[in-house]
Amino acid sequence: MKMVFLGPPGAGKGTIAALAKDYYGIPHISTGDLFRSNIKNETALGLQVKSILASGGLVPDSVTIEMVRNRIAEPDCEKGFILDGFPRTIPQADALAEMTGLDAVVDFQISTEAVVARLSGRRMCPSTGRIYHILFNPPKVEGKDDETGEDLIQRDDDKEEAIKHRLEVYTAQTEPLIKYYTDKGLIKGVDASVAPDKVFENLKKALA
Ligand code: AP5
Repeated sequence: MKMVFLGPPGAGKGTIAALAKDYYGIPHISTGDLFRSNIKNETALGLQVKSILASGGLVPDSVTIEMVRNRIAEPDCEKGFILDGFPRTIPQADALAEMTGLDAVVDFQISTEAVVARLSGRRMCPSTGRIYHILFNPPKVEGKDDETGEDLIQRDDDKEEAIKHRLEVYTAQTEPLIKYYTDKGLIKGVDASVAPDKVFENLKKALA
């Protein structure tokens, strides 16, 4: 199964991908996670993209496309993958179409008010990437990762100004992909406004 998770920032793509990767037995490839890992390890790519991610803007298409091309060429992607956060522009979608076919593009449907509430309360474990929410999915011990006990962090781009910019960028550059993939007959709409286990049920039904 080769699928793309499409939806606004904070729609829950990463949360549901963590469940879907085990259920479908395919890797979860998040371009945001790949960039954040490069930033953490202070690679040349990480230094190049650090300020772009903090502001909520998009990394140039050429850089992102090459990173995904290399990742999906790895052996674990032979049976399929979940692409989370890619493509985000029409040129990225055109480039992906040249690399591989797709079975489905899942559109996570949710209101702007709900995503702002989700993003502003999100916390994550810096080493494992595990995602929490201070109200909707709190850790067992406040501020600590459930398994490693590490201090949780707030992403730089989950601050108010960056959230606003990310939503504007989504509307201008990424939302047009819904029509792009609808025209190709690939879109599967999923109600993402409900609790994670319900969203996951909605996803399985949409893909059945
Ligand atoms: P990326 O990491 O992809 O960010 P995003 O698309 O903005 O998505 P998020 O990770 O913010 O949200 P999500 O939908 O995964 O929600 P989550 O599950 O965490 O990209 C970051 C940056 O990298 C971009 O801004 C850009 O700079 C760069 N980048 C990445 N890809 C790029 C590309 N293709 N081209 C160019 N640049 C690129 O959930 C959010 C919160 O809600 C959590 O706290 C969670 O616990 C909670 N939650 C989740 N589901 C539910 C639920 N059902 N009910 C209640 N709470 C929930």
